[in-house]
Amino acid sequence: MGPFDWLPHAPLEPLQLDWLNGVELAVLRLDCIDPLISGNKWFKLTEHLAQARHAGATGGISLGGAYSNHLHALAAAGKRFGFPTVGLLRGHPQDTPTVLDLKAFGMQLHWLGYGGYRARHEPGFWLPWREQYPDFHPIPEGGGGLAGAQGCGVLVEQARAQLGKLGWSDYDAWWLAAGTGTTVAGLALAEAGARTVYGAMAVPDDHGVAQNVNAIVQDGYTVLDACRGGFAKVDPLLLDFIERTEQACGLPLEPLYTGKALLALKQQIEAGRFTPGTRLIFIHTGGLQGRRGFL
Ligand SMILES: Cc1ncc(COP(=O)(O)O)c(C=O)c1O
Repeated sequence: MGPFDWLPHAPLEPLQLDWLNGVELAVLRLDCIDPLISGNKWFKLTEHLAQARHAGATGGISLGGAYSNHLHALAAAGKRFGFPTVGLLRGHPQDTPTVLDLKAFGMQLHWLGYGGYRARHEPGFWLPWREQYPDFHPIPEGGGGLAGAQGCGVLVEQARAQLGKLGWSDYDAWWLAAGTGTTVAGLALAEAGARTVYGAMAVPDDHGVAQNVNAIVQDGYTVLDACRGGFAKVDPLLLDFIERTEQACGLPLEPLYTGKALLALKQQIEAGRFTPGTRLIFIHTGGLQGRRGFL
């Protein structure tokens, strides 16, 4: 498989919103890089796919839920670049819009149930899958781990190269949604302590985001709760915020990650975390395919 020399370009755009209170905000639009392989997913996959190629693998196998943006991007990449993919899914067979896409992209699906999926961290979990798909490279859930983080470093370069068009000579910090924390870790690695990376957690504390990030990089990041009662829990205030934001500046958000992350930023600005004049880059991490199930 590969080589995968596709490096999509994410535009950096100014964001004008009436709650910024003097904070200057720009958005790095990973939702615009490609109609199918959208968001932070491709960047998290690049190093994993390079490792797969290096190991002589012929395909990729990974895990996720029935709305997984990660599996969606992996399956789309497999179709685009001509390598087979296998998805191990949480729960029981169902045809969500995401699952229908996975099938259309040619991903081979296996439904593990809930107990079977929970066993994914147990030592023997991969054995039967390695036997069934000996030439397939296993990619961790969400494209995580050090390889996933390293693939995100290029985002820092892409944003810095576009500061001029905003009239910015520099910026102070990053703000983005965290699910596994891999993207946060990748930015913190690339920044090497120069600027803080804020991860707005789309999952509760006990999902171990801080531990995941800390296993990769020890400084230069802060994670805060943004999950509003649980992963994928949606409430009227959030939906109203997403609609108002889209009306105000045309930025499409979804309720699981990007909507919660930007709403958490609004709340932190209201609470006085950032002084006027602070320049922040918000990363739109994509996921818009998943909103078919929620909006
Ligand atoms: C749309 C979207 N944004 C953000 C994230 C969080 O990325 P990470 O797992 O690297 O923290 C994910 C996946 O987890 C996602 O699908």
